[in-house]
Amino acid sequence: MQLALTNVGHRRALAVDRKEPGRAPLPGLDEALVALLGRGHEPWQGSRAQRDLMARAWVEAVEEPVDEAAIALRYRRNPLENVIKVVVEFTTCCNLSCEHCYNAGVGLRTENDLAALDAATAVFADMAIPNYSFTGGEVSKFGSGWLGLARSIRARGAQTISVLSNGWFLGEKDFEAAGRRYRDDRAYLDDLRDHGVSHVVFSIDGPEAVHDRSRGSPGLYARVVGGLGRVREASLEPRLSLLARSGPKDELARLVLDLAPLLYGQSDGAMERFCADETNIVSNFIDIGNGARKGGGIGYSLDAFPAEILRCKAFYRPYPHLTLKANGELSTCRIAQGGEGYGNFHLRPMVDILNHMQDAFIYRLHAEGRIADYLPLVDPEVFGTTCIHPCSLRAFTTMVAQRMHEAGVEAGDGEAVARINREVAAITGHLKDGGHRV
Ligand SMILES: C[S@@+](CC[C@H](N)C(=O)[O-])C[C@H]1O[C@@H](n2cnc3c(N)ncnc32)[C@H](O)[C@@H]1O
Ligand code: SF4
Repeated sequence: MQLALTNVGHRRALAVDRKEPGRAPLPGLDEALVALLGRGHEPWQGSRAQRDLMARAWVEAVEEPVDEAAIALRYRRNPLENVIKVVVEFTTCCNLSCEHCYNAGVGLRTENDLAALDAATAVFADMAIPNYSFTGGEVSKFGSGWLGLARSIRARGAQTISVLSNGWFLGEKDFEAAGRRYRDDRAYLDDLRDHGVSHVVFSIDGPEAVHDRSRGSPGLYARVVGGLGRVREASLEPRLSLLARSGPKDELARLVLDLAPLLYGQSDGAMERFCADETNIVSNFIDIGNGARKGGGIGYSLDAFPAEILRCKAFYRPYPHLTLKANGELSTCRIAQGGEGYGNFHLRPMVDILNHMQDAFIYRLHAEGRIADYLPLVDPEVFGTTCIHPCSLRAFTTMVAQRMHEAGVEAGDGEAVARINREVAAITGHLKDGGHRV
């Protein structure tokens, strides 16, 4: 029998070889992994190291005679190679209903099997993935247990842990957050820091009036801006997640000019630092969820959409992040359920899911460029004839394809395809109560 590295083993071997920080060293095993990385494959000798690597699913048996070119190709195309961050969507519950939120149609769920989530994140620590981000919904309010998990992730060597928030707790006194009681926002921020959180990322959807309207929360912009200094005083790094939408020219640049000094101090170059710092986020508006209802008549036409743009590399060569969804799914895309289909850590060990990503239908759908075959099956009567952001079209086409595959529905079964279109549209925000497009 011959052994070769699995996806997880290969990613760890690269991390060891490149001396990347953030993983507990395993003397003996790490050397064996790097040696195997160099050789490509090796015969099974039943050594202690080989048995241990096999038990961890960092190596696997390969068919003989060994196809060396296939092993080399598999290593070159390891879908985990470029992942540098894991986003943990701990809950989909939220205290707001923002007018753009892509999660609006997704079912409400909070992870309550903390041991399973902890075990899933440990696999990423094995591969020395350095960065973790907690998101929701609003995890800072509804994510009971997330702080304990953050502490555990940090203890395994994570370099950064960020939490994404709408900022609801800034300026509050005597409030409850994720099952704990806090005297004020500073006490909460101190507790985040004490649990290993390094960055607090607040969302801003535009200038003050635009933000407060979009969030349905008068005064929220001022509270977020006023709270950034308190985040710094608590020895945490404040950061921003900005929503770029079609507003007046230079609106986004002005926003960054105004806000960057509050993150980095009044020194020259705050804007450049904001742009170079990957812990800030700038997202274009994606017309999904509540955002789908904002869709206008402009954008990409569904019937003339280029096939090569529909295919998305994030599904087979994810960078920079993978997401663990609140329903337990490993996901490559954060929009609605667009990136789900690789496996669920409540049903299968995470190491098994990661090692077999290439076998998933959703992986092959994009890697082999077959996603375009499904575009004619997306019903413009349901989803409209145009979309604003290509990712919304990618997400709902992928969801239609994934559901057809799961249910064994053929393209010619018009009734079943129509049913699946409606099911997907209910999640992506394209259906109103009666089943008609908004
Ligand atoms: C889903 S929220 C969860 C975290 C937290 N509740 C918040 O609002 O910051 C994560 C980020 O996604 C952004 N977002 C939500 N819907 C979006 C959309 N349709 N297009 C682009 N970004 C969106 C939000 O503005 C936020 O920065
Ligand atoms: S964008 Fe964030 S705060 Fe707004 S509804 Fe979505 S999850 Fe909640």
